[in-house]
Amino acid sequence: MRVLFYNVYVMSQATQAQLATHETALVTGAAGFVGSHLAERLLHDNFVVLGLDSFTDYYARNLKENNLRPALQDPHFTFVQADLRTADLRDLLTRHKVRYIFHEAGQAGVRPSWGKDFQPYVERNILATQALLEAVVSLPDPTQLKKFVFASSSSVYGDAEQLPTDENVLPRPISPYGVTKLAAEHLCFLYAKQYGLPVVALRYFSVYGPRQRPDMAMNLFVDAVLRGKPIKVFGDGEQTREMTFVSDIVQANLLALQAPNGGPRVYNIGGGERSTINGILETLGEIGGTQPRLEYLERAAGDHRHGAADISRAQAELGYAPRVGLEEGLRAQYAWQKERIKADERRTTNDE
Ligand SMILES: NC(=O)c1ccc[n+]([C@@H]2O[C@H](COP(=O)([O-])OP(=O)(O)OC[C@H]3O[C@@H](n4cnc5c(N)ncnc54)[C@H](O)[C@@H]3O)[C@@H](O)[C@H]2O)c1
Repeated sequence: MRVLFYNVYVMSQATQAQLATHETALVTGAAGFVGSHLAERLLHDNFVVLGLDSFTDYYARNLKENNLRPALQDPHFTFVQADLRTADLRDLLTRHKVRYIFHEAGQAGVRPSWGKDFQPYVERNILATQALLEAVVSLPDPTQLKKFVFASSSSVYGDAEQLPTDENVLPRPISPYGVTKLAAEHLCFLYAKQYGLPVVALRYFSVYGPRQRPDMAMNLFVDAVLRGKPIKVFGDGEQTREMTFVSDIVQANLLALQAPNGGPRVYNIGGGERSTINGILETLGEIGGTQPRLEYLERAAGDHRHGAADISRAQAELGYAPRVGLEEGLRAQYAWQKERIKADERRTTNDE
């Protein structure tokens, strides 16, 4: 795989003349689940894309390298391996004439955010975001940037009293992860207010689909079904989630470019369907043609009981409408994971 290290990176095959006809978008966290899908869609829509990722050790690097592979085939994609906290971002943004930033990089995961592992949450969600915002406002011409889209999370709501939850509900996170995402969101809004940055925050509700992170519930559920293993369910399974298919999240990011400027904007981005965990597992069983074996465990600290997005603001102001229903999305993720397991088996057989 071609990985370009910061300070020694070079432009990919596209010439400067070609680039002049396109505008450049920076995708942070481009090797991750959401970032890699977004980078591909932007390339498809004729953006020049600068992808940045530090390959944190939260999950295996080879999964992230696989995520990046399709984008790396595109001559309008340049990848930079760098940490937002230490890279010379001002230089990067200036040199590549970045017009749009999609800030997907972060430390996700609710349960591991307690205890000694809180440190990376502070570093990757709060400090990294602050470094990026500082770089933007220190640009020779800060108006170079037309939009700064921040990947926020429904975790900022915690156990919201109002369901479905709209953006006017006071966010009260119940996990350290949620606290850091809310802090990062507030930082974005502060910079918007102080410096007039054109900031849009999208609060994603449980994203799923191909390339989903290996620590996420849906990935673990599908894996267990495919391997005939018992499924661990935290709590009684009657907690609800609004799952959002990754292509809908990507679509919301594109639509966010049309959000009105002149003040920070925040939008819920949900999938339009709410389901219990037990209901999701039943559907998965049907897809896999099996009766999943369930093992119920204590409710995990930081897990909210119910999640449901009121997306009317995103609908009205951005024209956002989720397109992929839960069953269709689950089938897509199931097919992707099945294929991955087969590919791993082929590799193991060839190695023997
Ligand atoms: N997946 C979800 O369900 C979900 C829900 C709500 C919000 N979000 C947010 O969306 C974003 C993307 O989530 P994801 O599921 O794709 O996670 P991911 O872990 O797959 O991707 C994040 C990427 O960011 C990179 N990264 C982290 N810190 C960095 C730094 N300091 N510099 C450079 N790169 C860095 C990581 O290496 C990783 O590849 C995150 O900010 C997350 O908080 C995700």
